Amino acid sequence: MGTFRSKGWLLICAMLVGSAAAGTPAADEYARGAQVYERCAACHALEADRTGPHHCGLIGRRAGSVPGFPYSPAMRHAGFVWNEKTLDRFLRSPLTTIPGTSMGYDGVKDNGERRALILFLREAGHSERCRGMSARAP
Ligand code: HEC
Repeated sequence: MGTFRSKGWLLICAMLVGSAAAGTPAADEYARGAQVYERCAACHALEADRTGPHHCGLIGRRAGSVPGFPYSPAMRHAGFVWNEKTLDRFLRSPLTTIPGTSMGYDGVKDNGERRALILFLREAGHSERCRGMSARAP
């Protein structure tokens, strides 16, 4: 109980500050998330569209809404906004969460890895290097 609560606080602090001091549990979580993100980097980048759309500004963005990106009809019409909850479901099992998605990836099954990945996407997606892109996001 106690450890869960203090861990939660560390995460919240890390999100508020925007970057955490190295060596803290939250910084470790971010680093772990960055490592998991390397699996996504085959198709995605933060600032640029590749095989998949860019991830800057992802949290708070409507699914399938990057202008000019050739989404599948399934993603374009998913009809929800990306937040921790929707990302968690999608990243666990992309193909069953959005049947017909063109994201050919089986997902991140490990709960801890997914949590770290989502923390990374949240932090990195609103970081300095994303400033210009987030401003243009709808
Ligand atoms: C094999 C290439 C590939 C890999 C690997 C991949 N993706 Fe994707 N991703 C795509 C494609 C293509 C789309 C567009 C899907 C569609 O339109 O149905 C997409 C879409 C997405 C979206 C929806 C974005 C939006 O603008 O609505 C998210 C979120 C996402 N990917 C996250 C990830 C994460 C996180 C990983 C790593 C765990 C990952 N993807 C791995 C190809 C990939």
